[in-house]
Amino acid sequence: MTTLEEGTARYGTGPMRILVACDHGAFELKQQVVSYLQQRGHEVIDLGTNGTQSVDYPDFAGKLCRALLAGTGERGVLMCGTGIGISIAANRFPGIRAALCHDELTARLSRLHNDANVLVMGGRTTGPATADAILAAWLKTPFEGGRHQRRLASLEQQHQKEPA
Ligand code: RB5
Repeated sequence: MTTLEEGTARYGTGPMRILVACDHGAFELKQQVVSYLQQRGHEVIDLGTNGTQSVDYPDFAGKLCRALLAGTGERGVLMCGTGIGISIAANRFPGIRAALCHDELTARLSRLHNDANVLVMGGRTTGPATADAILAAWLKTPFEGGRHQRRLASLEQQHQKEPA
């Protein structure tokens, strides 16, 4: 498994290749996210799930994180009912910085301060208009670097010493 370099999550106004996955608790939100991204010219790789039948969120977090770390996409969006389980699962992968965001401010700060390469939202906690606002902020906001870069580097180093 390759590891993404800190500070390298792509940003900007140009089209990106974005991986998307969810469990049954966020199927509707995932469909909305896919349309939102495609309408704005992004290439979407939809890794499922593709219905409301019960599935296990760690499977979908794993699918997306492995693909992102392998370079299949530039960013990822994960969703489950609350966003909590799938963000816990995603953050077990070194190099993944998955941020559960509930509004525009947390989305913006997840990019500025944490260089989040995976956005997480909850299908049962986040409404359609808020989801669009979160996506817009998360897509257009760059990483600030500086002291935040130092903290990300420290995060990765500690992870290497004490693997999960
Ligand atoms: C599934 O019912 C639900 O537990 C899941 O979508 C998520 O909310 C877990 O954190």
